[in-house]
Amino acid sequence: MKMEFKKMNNMEVESWTRVCGFVSYSLSSDNFPSNMIKQILSFAKIPPAVNQVEMNPTWQQKKLNEFCKENGIVVTAYSALGAVGNRGWGHNRVMECDVLQDIANSKGKTLAQISLRWLYEQGVIIAIKSFNTKRMKQNLEIFDWSLTQEELNKIDRIPQRRHVYLGGSMSTGHNDILAKIDAELD
Ligand SMILES: NC(=O)c1ccc[n+]([C@@H]2O[C@H](COP(=O)([O-])OP(=O)(O)OC[C@H]3O[C@@H](n4cnc5c(N)ncnc54)[C@H](OP(=O)(O)O)[C@@H]3O)[C@@H](O)[C@H]2O)c1
Repeated sequence: MKMEFKKMNNMEVESWTRVCGFVSYSLSSDNFPSNMIKQILSFAKIPPAVNQVEMNPTWQQKKLNEFCKENGIVVTAYSALGAVGNRGWGHNRVMECDVLQDIANSKGKTLAQISLRWLYEQGVIIAIKSFNTKRMKQNLEIFDWSLTQEELNKIDRIPQRRHVYLGGSMSTGHNDILAKIDAELD
């Protein structure tokens, strides 16, 4: 069920309630900020089991991930590499991040692996996409090593910016309206 509004209106509340009537097991939500999940939890017979959101070292979603964990909801991270190469949606902020590149160089890993390992260590499911066999294999080679506390601290300090898609045009710079929406969604 895809609903991307700050507050659920009556129709959306009714939709969730109706869907709960059809399924007996679990539901997933898509791009829900914590205040929307709070609303759902206040009335839903079946709470969301999974919440799929953009998450990577440049948009870490710490508060949302914490909130979901406290409420037994698993976060799935999409755009783990910033959807690099996707002209309609993607950006280069993850794949051109100096902090991630430095860590990758010092560990003999690729930058993509550092981003994916960081996500893995946040306890989320990773929805990574590749059509390239070599990169698919590389993306799976993240389970037999770990990031040090110092490396995690460096990643924590990466400036945060949510990627916003505005009706077919990408928001690239600072925007007061988007900053206000972000503050309200948090
Ligand atoms: N729920 C939602 O609202 C939502 C929104 C966006 C995306 N998604 C889903 O999330 C999944 C993945 O997200 P995404 O496509 O946005 O972003 P992504 O996985 O961050 O980026 C995919 C891009 O990264 C490249 N790539 C993959 N591994 C790489 C590596 N090791 N080194 C360099 N480049 C690499 C891929 O190119 P190659 O194929 O050439 O390797 C592809 O162009 C998709 O299945 C998508 O449907 C969901």
